[in-house]
Amino acid sequence: MSDIETVMRTAPVIPVLVMEEGIDPVALAETLVEAGLPVLEITLRTPNALDCIRAMSKVDGAIVGAGTVLNEKMLGEAIDAGSQFIVSPGLTEGLGKAAIASGVPFLPGIANAGDIMRGLDLGLDRFKFFPAEAAGGLNALKALAGPFGDVRFCPTGGIREDTVSQWLAHPAVLCVGGSWLVPAGERDMAKVGERARKAAQFER
Ligand code: 3PG
Repeated sequence: MSDIETVMRTAPVIPVLVMEEGIDPVALAETLVEAGLPVLEITLRTPNALDCIRAMSKVDGAIVGAGTVLNEKMLGEAIDAGSQFIVSPGLTEGLGKAAIASGVPFLPGIANAGDIMRGLDLGLDRFKFFPAEAAGGLNALKALAGPFGDVRFCPTGGIREDTVSQWLAHPAVLCVGGSWLVPAGERDMAKVGERARKAAQFER
């Protein structure tokens, strides 16, 4: 996987996955890939997350990245586990510089103009807009896209099946992220597959 833009353009929706105990990581990855969502963000919020990244990376067609990467230590662990891209809810200079130096495709979070400017200073111009709905929703993104015309976004946070198409209709949006595909407690892969097939059909 060459760069973060390629990852962002692979599918309209990136499932944000919190790997609770009892979810079979391989079955989940296979379900999502088969449904047409090959880009998977595994949040480093559960003790088994790194093991899940290792297991899911072996699934044919899966492009597995780590989310909730908050610092350089977590970055190193995520890369060692085989993460093909890295997502963070925010952007610090330390994490940004380390991610760039590692060469891994990197999608840091921004929520305002100052965040974007700090990212641009580091040479970054592809960002997660987080928390998308709470930080002002589509109106905020439209406003930010004005002064930062070359910047592209993956809005994430509060996005649901019925709001995806509004976000994707904006030219600065390459994809969206969301956890609605696998809500907390979900164990039914048929239901996950159904939601994922719908999500894979969204047009950009
Ligand atoms: C994330 O880490 O990106 C968010 O938890 C995803 O937001 P959502 O749960 O509102 O989709």
